[in-house]
Amino acid sequence: MLIVANWKAYVETTDKAKRLYATAKRLAGEKKHEIVLGPPGPYLGYLSIGNRSKVKFAAQDISAAQGGAATGELTAALAHRVGASFAIIGHSERRAQGETDTLILKKVQQALGAGLIPVLCIGETERDPEARYLNQLRSQLKTVLEPLPPKERAHMVIAYEPVWAIGKSAAEAITPTDLTEMILYLRKILGEYFPAKAGSAVPILYGGSVEPGNIVALASGTGIDGFLIGRASTDSATFSALVKALG
Ligand code: PGA
Repeated sequence: MLIVANWKAYVETTDKAKRLYATAKRLAGEKKHEIVLGPPGPYLGYLSIGNRSKVKFAAQDISAAQGGAATGELTAALAHRVGASFAIIGHSERRAQGETDTLILKKVQQALGAGLIPVLCIGETERDPEARYLNQLRSQLKTVLEPLPPKERAHMVIAYEPVWAIGKSAAEAITPTDLTEMILYLRKILGEYFPAKAGSAVPILYGGSVEPGNIVALASGTGIDGFLIGRASTDSATFSALVKALG
């Protein structure tokens, strides 16, 4: 499976970053799963620039700008140059800061142009009885996928993260039954943007309160290709337990 560890702003010391990296190297070395670390900006460069291990790196966000006069921005080209292979884009915590699907499309285009694989985060804010949330997901995918040439659409990872399930506990995460239904729905939408069955090659990750207590149930038979893990990925023992639980 593909396991993306989104450190968010949980890791603020070099010791902790180094410890988590050492754990990730050990887990990636076992070659059972692909491990991608998403450290905060300074630690992205610090760890990834000399990385010779099987661990891969993701920027937690990238700029829609090309570079130059763009104070405070981390460009896709720079993230790629310091060793990132992926960019998490459209995370709900960025969307909460005002990011729109149109801005997210620009970031995806920047990432693809720089050779980064976008991990496009989508997810409904809440579940309403009329199932309008399904349209929300459809529109998040449409705004980004429709304008991209088919070849570029294939160079993406989709992370399904229901916003109501992020940063909570396993008890409040999505149930395996609901996740299975959602993955079928997302696969159906993806199918509309790819010729024949090419859409089935795009990995879909699940994110939102993944813990050692629910990771196996969420992985078994739900159709997902991996996980985007936040808080639980920032403790070495817990992260190790999560990856090992997957076998
Ligand atoms: P969480 O975050 O695992 O802490 O819920 C997941 C995410 O937001 O990517």
